[in-house]
Order: sequence, then structure tokens, then C-alpha cells
Amino acid sequence: MPNNTITHDVIVVGAGLAGTWAAMVAAREGVKDIGVLSKIHPLRSHSGAAQGGIAASLSNTRPVAGTGPRGPLEQIPPGEEPVDSPDLHMFDTIKGSDWLGDQDAIRILVDDAADVVYEYEHMGCVFSRTPDGRINQRRFGGHSAPRACFAADWTGHVLLHTIHEQALRNNVKFYAEWYVMNLIIEDNICRGVVAMDVLTGEVHTLRAKAVMFGTGGYGRAFKITSNAFANTGDGVAIAYDAGAPLMDMEFVQFHPTGLYRHGILMSEACRGEGGYLINNKGERFMEKYAPDKMELAPRDLVSRSEQTEINEGRGVMEDGQGIFLDMRHLGREKILSRLPQVREIAINFVGVDPIDAPVPIQPTAHYSMGGIPTTVDGQVIANAAGDPVVGFYAAGECAAVSVHGANRLGTNSLLEASVFGRRAGYAIAEFVKGGAQLYPVSGDPAERQRQRIKSLLDRDGDELVEHIAQDLKSTMTDNCGVFRDEDRLKVAMSDIKELQERFKHARTMDKGRHFNTDLLATLEAEHLLTFSEVIVAGALARTESRGAHSRTDFPKRDDEDWLKHTVAHKTDDGPKLSYKPVSIDWEKYPPQERKY
Ligand code: FUM
Repeated sequence: MPNNTITHDVIVVGAGLAGTWAAMVAAREGVKDIGVLSKIHPLRSHSGAAQGGIAASLSNTRPVAGTGPRGPLEQIPPGEEPVDSPDLHMFDTIKGSDWLGDQDAIRILVDDAADVVYEYEHMGCVFSRTPDGRINQRRFGGHSAPRACFAADWTGHVLLHTIHEQALRNNVKFYAEWYVMNLIIEDNICRGVVAMDVLTGEVHTLRAKAVMFGTGGYGRAFKITSNAFANTGDGVAIAYDAGAPLMDMEFVQFHPTGLYRHGILMSEACRGEGGYLINNKGERFMEKYAPDKMELAPRDLVSRSEQTEINEGRGVMEDGQGIFLDMRHLGREKILSRLPQVREIAINFVGVDPIDAPVPIQPTAHYSMGGIPTTVDGQVIANAAGDPVVGFYAAGECAAVSVHGANRLGTNSLLEASVFGRRAGYAIAEFVKGGAQLYPVSGDPAERQRQRIKSLLDRDGDELVEHIAQDLKSTMTDNCGVFRDEDRLKVAMSDIKELQERFKHARTMDKGRHFNTDLLATLEAEHLLTFSEVIVAGALARTESRGAHSRTDFPKRDDEDWLKHTVAHKTDDGPKLSYKPVSIDWEKYPPQERKY
């Protein structure tokens, strides 16, 4: 075996909720030797940036009687009628997904929701509480009951800390600041990964009986995004390069309230707690677009409404590219107790205290509905026949299981990462304890990656890689954003092809070995260029509007031709697209017109 080889029973890549749940559960189920690789410190994983809540139909709160559906909330006295149920959560999620979510997977999501939230509670998670001590719940867009369990606006942060502690308690080993460069699949069997220890620059082969990806989303392909710098879609690109398919990549969620020009998340909880969206005429314009749900319509619809206001000249700020999020009427006490992080971010980044003034916001690339297709137990699906890639699992934002379909409802992502990360953990434990083998790897995969690094560092063209990444983000935002059409998507595609060519000669400034973040950015840029082509190819092909994919040249949803998932495989000529049916319960949840 080549030098620098490390072995584990299980390797998990990514230390957010999905990966850590999987590792923790597999360890708890008796798998002794688990390594989690994270390109950043595990507690900086992007799950920790989710603010507003995790969905579960607990029925702990309801609108105060006589105040209407948007009135203030109160706890439901014990013994009184519930306002919520898994069935209602299921319907909301299917409708939110614009009927592209797989209903067998959504059933599991909503049925496991209460159990996973109580498991967090029993681990000691510090949820915000109702006066009588139950987990408090607030409203979120597209949900027809107060369903978001929260910890002020630090929900992802407290969930991540809770599950990380449990992983440590179960002796999971974490490799902080290890960057995975390659996935080893031979004969449809996953055998391990190649990763760089960022501190030393050394490249290692890590072999395992099972590999699980919880590598997060791909929002960093866009200029304005709420995503952390780390969210460069490495996992999806690496899986695709290794021969796994990608599904529904064209569905990218734009969150309606990213901080103006920065894109940083101003939680949907701002609107869940009663905040307004206002244009430059002082109008609550959502009245025109979603008269029933108003600001609490689903994200795709609210972002399109904002973008329409901006495009038609009713935006705010000097360039007219913003919208105001007004929370002044919520009052100081509520903002301090429920939205303290949001307030701090607004003060620090744009100098606006939401207690005193409206906060400028704009749509921001937020969530990747597409990803690596999996079964409901996290097994990666290799082909149209549904065969799994043996020993390869994925869950969370890098995966497409697919519960979110064409548009995710807020608070369903923390839920999905937890529910399906946990399920993957059980499935992996069963697989390993059932006699999975440590398969050999051919040649020296680490050496191939060392050569890749050498050739990247040897390039000395005039152009910096950084500029290529910036140009990619600009074209993705301008031409594959909230609204799309054939002409703009063709521009995006030709830009990507040109950028891929330019990348071949572009220079990485830092030629060093230790903690070379410039090299990391180069590897990340290569990944951005790889999967962005898949996003645009899927968006060009899909001649309809569904959820977050909004084509101005095809403004209607077209169930006859497009009620199907896009599946992309890598070929020498670019992504090869095929399609796969959606799992639908035609009796109970047949497609309907989607109105709010
Ligand atoms: O708006 C938010 O707090 C984000 C939540 C989510 O994306 O689920």
C-alpha cells in the first residue's frame, strides 16, 4: 500500500448536521472506527449559520383567538385541539416543492420530525420555550401552522453544538481542516477518498468500508449569497467527477432577505415574527403577489416578487437594487429576545439597527435543492435502474433525496439534514456490521492528486484564478439567477466554457506547501466551474417554470413534459441529461395549481 494511507471503517466528509448525525449514530450503533473530515473547523460548518428554526408539527403554539391567521401566537393549553399534524406538514412541503419533491421521502421527513427534535432536546439542546416550558414555535413561509422550533435566531448553531458533543462522546475522530480532493470509486464500489491536510499540505489516501458525504451546498457559485465561503460544492463536483450522477441541479433557492450587497442571511424569522417587506413607495407589495400569505409566502415567490419590484423601479437604496425589511413595529424587546443575531449582523455590516430603522435586503443565493441522488437511507444511486454505488452515502444539502423538489420551505433543511443524516448513520452501521469489506485501491490515488496540485501550482499565466471565480459568480448571478430565459442561460453556458478554458492557464499566487489557502481556492474554483455547467445545462433544458427555476420565456409549470427529475452524468462532451419520475401518491397528493 502506498505511503500516507490511513484507514477507517467509515469516513464521513463534512461536519455539519448531516455528517455529524451519521457519524454519531453509526458510532452509537457499534461502529468503532469513524473519521470525519472537515475542510474547516467542524463547529464552523454551515449548518451552524441556519438561524430561524427546525420544522416539526408539535402543535405547541397557535394564533391568539380572534386575531386571524397572522395574529400574535400563544401556547396551546394542554388538552386542546392541535393546530398541526405530519399530514399538514407533508402537504405544505409538497406544495412548497411545486410537486417535484419525492413524496415517499417527504413522508419520512415529516413523520420523523418530532422524534428528531425531541432527540435534540434530550441531548440538552437549548431551545427557546413557551411560558409553560415546551419548545416554542414560530411561523415560517409556506407552512400553514407555527411549526419552526427555534433557539432565538441561533437554531443551527445550537443544534450543531449539541450533535457535535454527542459525536465526541461516542469517540468519533475529527480531522479539522482536511480538504477532500477525490473520491475513489472502482467497479461501482466506493473505497475511500484522497484528502489534503491543509496545515501541512500533505496528501493522503484514506480507505474505508463506507464513505458518507455531508459536504453542504453550492451557493458560492453566485455573487450574492448567504453561504459561507466554504460552500463551494466540493462534494457534488467530486462525486460527479468520480462518476456519480447529480440530480435537479438547476433548482437553486434565492432567499428573499439577504443583507443588501452582502447577501448575509437575515432570517426568515424576521418575517415569521411579523416583519414587513416594503418598496420605495412605502408599500407592503406582497399584497399584490400573495394576498393570503403576504411576507410568509414561500421563498421562491417572495424573491420573485422582490425582484419584480426592483426591476420595475420600486427598489430602494441608491442603485434601486434593495428592498426594505421593516421590523420596527416588533419592538425592542422582541427583537432583542428573538432576533439578536440578525440585529447584530445588520448593525455590524450596514450600520442599521432594526429597532430604529428598516434594513436593506435583497434576494440571495441560499440553498441548493439539487445534489447527489440518494435513497431514503442515504445510499447514493448510480443509475436509472436505481442501483446504489456500493459503500457510498450522502445526506443533507449535498444530496437530493429529494424532499425539497423545486423549492425548499424554510426550516425543512435543518430537519432534512438531521432526519436523513440520522438514517444514513443507521444504514451505514448495518452495512459495516453486516460484513462490509475494506476493498483495495488501484495504484496510488494520493500521488495522482499530488501531481494535480503540482500542475496547478506550475501554471504561470497572466490571469489569477481568483478573477475567473469572480467572473463565474457574476455570470451565474446575472444569467442564471432569480429569473432566467434561454438567451441569458446561453450566455451563462458560453461564459462557463470560456472560463473553463481560461482556468487551464490561470495562476495560483501562493506556491507554498503549508496552509495554502490560495491553492484551496484554486481547487474550489475548479469545482465551481464543474457543477455550474450542470446547473446551467439543466436550466436550459427545462423549458418550464417550477419552484425556484423561473423561466420568463416559459412562465408556466408544465406537468405533462416536466414533472420529472433531471439527472446529469459527466461525459467528455459535458453533462449528459436524462430524467427520472417523481414519487407521487396520486390518490392523496396529486399535482395542483400552486397558489398562496
Ligand atoms: O431564514 C432562515 O432562518 C433560514 C432557515 C432555513 O434556510 O431553513
